[in-house]
Amino acid sequence: MSRNPRFDVLFEPVRIGPVTAPNRFYQVPHASGMTNALPQVRAAFRGVKAEGGWGVVCTGAVSIHPSSDDSPLPFASLWDDRDIRAHALMTDAVHEHGALAGIELWHGGACSLNRTSRIAPLSPSGMPWMSTHLGFMGNLRPRAMDAGDIKDLLRWQADGAKRAMRAGFDIVYVYAGMGYLPYEFLLPEYNQRSDAYGGSIANRVRLVRELLAVTRDAVGDRCAVALRISLEELRGKPGTNAESEAHEVVGLLAELPDLWDVKMDSSPTDCAPSRFAAEGSHEPIIDFVKRSTNRPVVGVGRFTSPDVMVSQIKRGILDFIGGARPSIADPFLPNKINAGREHEIRECIGCNICISSWHDGVPVRCTQNPTAGEEWRSGWHPERFAPPKSAAALLIVGGGPAGLECAVTLARRGYAVTVADAAPEFGGRLNFETRLPGLRTWGRVADWRLGLLRSLPNVSLYPGGALDADDILALEHRHVVIATGARWTKMLFSSLEFPMGELDVPQVYTPDDLALGVLPEGPVVVFDFDNYYLGGAIALRLAEHSRAVTYLTTAGNASAWTFMTNELPLVHRALCKAGVAIRTLQRITRFDGETVTAADVYSGEERRLPCRSLVIVGMRKPRAELYRALMARPTDLETAGIATVTRIGDALAPGAIVHAVHSGHRYAREFDAGEADATAPAPAPYIRDFPL
Ligand SMILES: Cc1cc2nc3c(=O)[nH]c(=O)nc-3n(C[C@H](O)[C@H](O)[C@H](O)COP(=O)(O)O)c2cc1C
Ligand code: SF4
Repeated sequence: MSRNPRFDVLFEPVRIGPVTAPNRFYQVPHASGMTNALPQVRAAFRGVKAEGGWGVVCTGAVSIHPSSDDSPLPFASLWDDRDIRAHALMTDAVHEHGALAGIELWHGGACSLNRTSRIAPLSPSGMPWMSTHLGFMGNLRPRAMDAGDIKDLLRWQADGAKRAMRAGFDIVYVYAGMGYLPYEFLLPEYNQRSDAYGGSIANRVRLVRELLAVTRDAVGDRCAVALRISLEELRGKPGTNAESEAHEVVGLLAELPDLWDVKMDSSPTDCAPSRFAAEGSHEPIIDFVKRSTNRPVVGVGRFTSPDVMVSQIKRGILDFIGGARPSIADPFLPNKINAGREHEIRECIGCNICISSWHDGVPVRCTQNPTAGEEWRSGWHPERFAPPKSAAALLIVGGGPAGLECAVTLARRGYAVTVADAAPEFGGRLNFETRLPGLRTWGRVADWRLGLLRSLPNVSLYPGGALDADDILALEHRHVVIATGARWTKMLFSSLEFPMGELDVPQVYTPDDLALGVLPEGPVVVFDFDNYYLGGAIALRLAEHSRAVTYLTTAGNASAWTFMTNELPLVHRALCKAGVAIRTLQRITRFDGETVTAADVYSGEERRLPCRSLVIVGMRKPRAELYRALMARPTDLETAGIATVTRIGDALAPGAIVHAVHSGHRYAREFDAGEADATAPAPAPYIRDFPL
């Protein structure tokens, strides 16, 4: 297959100051959670993207000084020369494939609470960066920078730029985004200075101007100098000499950087979840930048469709198609378009599990791409697979996220695979969940896998094929994989969070009942202590059906865990807009079919609410009956020539979709890691990386 000429424009080289990018695919700065402590893991993660066709591959934020210490969140550093080697591993890995390497030099200002270095945080005017996000919340207020501090900052940036150059980077950033120090100087709310750095917009821009100048002096004509800037808040402020302060800032700095990298201000709008924002959602904020500068512009917006990318270029919005999440979900996105295989792009679903891994303080994880972060540690390449070690045929029972991922990976390895599912459609939990408000894009998890499976000759698919133990024995596959998912329970918990048994009375439902088509009679109470997306999404769906809905949770927020995925503020807004009453810090103590009794989790004070139907979104248990039935018949298994029966995904340990996909992938990579025709799966060794 060859490239569709419609997409040729995406593969034009573009000059960025003294360097030239081979095409318009630009992996913008995004943290990997790997830090300098995992240099091989990080280099392989970035190198694979260059191999996959990204013309520019950047680091995430790299701290330039111990006064920018983000702990306990993971962050990279370039504090002194000893940090250079770890970064050089990455630039080598990126250059090996002809891409440019960029580094985002970063100072967090009042956002970095310096929990490890214990240096008083720096800020323009001593204004704290207020945050209800646990990762950023703290009690230490920043100090106001004096003229000496500003000089120090400029020196740290210049030193960082010189080290970056020695590490082999081609593009060096000044980062004025997302609450960090130079951004704080741009905003009058944080910058209340009366010196040359405060007051008028020209003064507030001065620090960024000087950072650009010292960076340029440091790198000379060896590297390009890029400016990454958040424009959302500034665009909302009317300008004195232009439409908005964003227009004024861009106008004042127009030709100073070699590249403009423009983005939003807060993680929920910048890294917007697909439940609440479509592809290209940044355009209304950043659309003017290209008209204000002759320098190339890169922007983001969860771009996965080549037609949307071409439109951004042709309409003069962007010069480079920036990608963070799309490059994680499919490192080979550019090469697939180049080869005319754009239908094979594994599109990001916008779930933001990648962001949650940064909040968790671990290397990046991705729902769609189970190899992300595992390239070096597990030797998992996203597009290359070890050939089969035997002619064994495999049967996968269950075609949800785990089963489909397992099948795709086994089939790409070359094994003969059969997938059966009792339901008429493959997809498992996705079949119900993607019909809930905002969750349609998540259907890409099943769509991408099914698309590939249907194109492969060594795959047999049997939807609507319920199998029992006798059926499986009769089919005589060498290896049987049980991916039968999990079921929701009606389990309640005590105030000490001890399980108290199931509330098995009429008019109590679980998500499984709703998936079967039950529409509960109102008023409905949705009781959520799963705390991820589902309880909130179900409440929204029921509200759409004109049910009076109360959303009740033991947590302090609706869909409380979604603060990890940037969705929480948007979930709350959506529930309020839909008229759903939100009651937090409550647990259920009684339900009589007419009223539910809820108790405050701390005081125990009880209140009764009208309730005809109670939907419990709580704990799940594996659907393991089939697995147990097979394991109870060892002699029959042997007679049928079945060497292994293995559970994967929710059937083993219920989790989010990301866990299921990873579990399915791991089985397919590792089931034969031991003997050629495995009689027992051999766990792969845990390979460790160390700081250089
Ligand atoms: C896991 C993750 C980490 C990120 N870390 C950074 C960072 O270190 N510096 C930065 O400027 N932006 C960071 N971002 C924001 C992205 O660069 C980008 O602006 C945002 O994800 C929107 O682009 P996308 O829709 O292509 O993902 C991060 C995004 C993700 C998903
Ligand atoms: S985790 Fe979700 S949002 Fe992040 S890259 Fe993967 S699919 Fe996209």
